[in-house]
Amino acid sequence: MAGHVVLVGLMGSGKTTVGRRLASRLDRVFVDADDALVEITDRTIPEVFAEKGESGFRTIEAEVLEELLARREPRIIAAGGGVVLREENRARLKAPEVTTVWLTASPAFLASRTSAKPHRPLLSGDEPPREVFARLDAERSPLYREVADITVDIEPFHLDDDKPKSVLADRIADLVLAHEGSRAADGAVS
Ligand code: S3P
Repeated sequence: MAGHVVLVGLMGSGKTTVGRRLASRLDRVFVDADDALVEITDRTIPEVFAEKGESGFRTIEAEVLEELLARREPRIIAAGGGVVLREENRARLKAPEVTTVWLTASPAFLASRTSAKPHRPLLSGDEPPREVFARLDAERSPLYREVADITVDIEPFHLDDDKPKSVLADRIADLVLAHEGSRAADGAVS
């Protein structure tokens, strides 16, 4: 049975673009969790970081994830890169009815193609992007691994294809349907 699908991974791994395409392939509604947070707080992400600190941002991020996962209609959710930092979020992402997809790539690859967009205060300091990504990768890879039902290395898609995000979305759609199918079969026998 279809449940929520959550895309996780570092900034720049393509969660939003791939998520939108995946939603259209699977005919489900797409939500970007960062956009939902901005809408709910009526603040930009840098404003939330400035007013409440990173820890305040993480608390709101957790509330937004809880709210999105509580909805009945199955959604494709692009989570912010740091969603795995809170234990309560990891518990939600590991719930059997949620399919969590980790888009992974090397820090050097992500640093080479990720820009410091306004919603990314972590990339706007003095630390060079390569170092930011290396640090975040070391801190977060074990956490992404802990929650992931499906892991997809995005780099080969970018090397081989003209439209990597479309091909990636097709591949992930197949993997999600297979995962949901095997979950339904397990449920039927147990
Ligand atoms: C963050 C990633 C951002 C956004 C915020 C914090 C992170 O989302 O939630 O700037 O901690 O990695 P994207 O991963 O969508 O860029």
